[in-house]
Amino acid sequence: MIVLALETSCDETAAALLEVAEGREGAETDRLTAGTLRTLRGTLREGEGDQEPRSRRDATAPASSTSNQEHVEGFPTTRVLSDVVASQIEEHAPYGGVVPELASRRHLTAILPVIRRALADAGRTLDDVQALAVTAGPGLIGSLLIGIQAAKAIAHAKRLPLIGVNHLAAHLLSSHLRRSSPDVAAPVSPGPPSSQRPSQRPQRLSGKSAGLRALLSPPLPPLPSVPSFPYVGLVVSGGHTALYAVWGLERFAQLAATRDDAAGEAFDKVGKLLGLPYPGGPAIDAAAAGIEPGDLRFPRGLDRKDTLDFSFSGLKTAVADRLRARREPPDPDEVRRVAAAFQESVVASLVKKSLQACERLGIPRLTLGGGVAANRGLRRSMAEACRTAGVELYLPARSDCTDNAAMVGLAAAPRLLRGEDDGGSLAARSSWPIG
Ligand code: KG4
Ligand code: ZN
Repeated sequence: MIVLALETSCDETAAALLEVAEGREGAETDRLTAGTLRTLRGTLREGEGDQEPRSRRDATAPASSTSNQEHVEGFPTTRVLSDVVASQIEEHAPYGGVVPELASRRHLTAILPVIRRALADAGRTLDDVQALAVTAGPGLIGSLLIGIQAAKAIAHAKRLPLIGVNHLAAHLLSSHLRRSSPDVAAPVSPGPPSSQRPSQRPQRLSGKSAGLRALLSPPLPPLPSVPSFPYVGLVVSGGHTALYAVWGLERFAQLAATRDDAAGEAFDKVGKLLGLPYPGGPAIDAAAAGIEPGDLRFPRGLDRKDTLDFSFSGLKTAVADRLRARREPPDPDEVRRVAAAFQESVVASLVKKSLQACERLGIPRLTLGGGVAANRGLRRSMAEACRTAGVELYLPARSDCTDNAAMVGLAAAPRLLRGEDDGGSLAARSSWPIG
């Protein structure tokens, strides 16, 4: 089934074409019931969940097949045929944040060119599309409506099914995206050192010499592996920061969440305080690269054992207080040092709570999703901590962490394969919690 997926929940207009096929339900997924979910929630609430993590042998077993052909149990097979993202960052940057009215006007002008480009990149036309998926929330209502109306119009004109997708669920599942590109999702820990792993850069072979090279060179690298269920998923974006237990594509429970700011929001606010360009996340990531904050250390919110929840507003205030106390704008060295210390504090909380969740649930498998998961400091620290703890870590490609439509098509896959259709009654939802 060829699926056209659209994403317009915030400041990115995105379209992707995916090929979705029937997969197998895994035995492990089937065994997990609503009862398991209730027990788990109870356990976490009572704080009695300190179970031994699974054995290292379990933890180091491959999560799933890495073969190009094989299915991942419990998940339909999906292949991304094209993936187009038009960012509005430059338009919002002068205002230091997303201006909702501007965002919806930009989506309106971008949506059709982006869809045309996604079709062209995949070498398909609208006649090849068999189903639609679109982000229906949470997000900016005016922005969501542009994607939803475009999807409804195509679905109506072509008599195709349409599925509304939850943006958080799409981020949560984004490590299931498989691509044969160098920047791919891959279990980064535990595993052989990177020097011993096969290169994931696709090899292009053509013409006469290609035949010879094919004989001499190793076979094409397999598509990256994706996590098997169950796993702990950390969604860390501009609007949300939460941990989930994930038993299947449509079975997850929220374990913890931020009590105030989302991590991405904190990055953006601190970026502004430091005079860095919008959005603050990538700017702080760049400013902090290779910098040792030395003795500068900011507080870590809710650094206690009795909760997996996060808090980032105190950290932001601590940065603001430091900058205010200096009375003059920070010089470039101070900007880098503060950026590095701030990022270290956010990363430390995310890493610690995520590993605590894995340990409490006895699930030695972790995935990351959402824009902040593109942060290089977070990716490095999480990989190191997981290697030490014997937890498999699945990191989507950095470009799959920020908003995109491929993850939306993927999240819609189970419902599309069941023949469901939200049709003309699909509505936009500014708030839509999951789990
Ligand atoms: O997932 P996303 O694209 O949109 C939401 O659903 O919110 O996430 C956007 C957030 C922004 O706050 C942005 O500053 C942050 O992700 N972000 C980063 C990085 N790239 C994007 N934060 C830290 N480091 C990055 N490299
Ligand atoms: Zn997002």
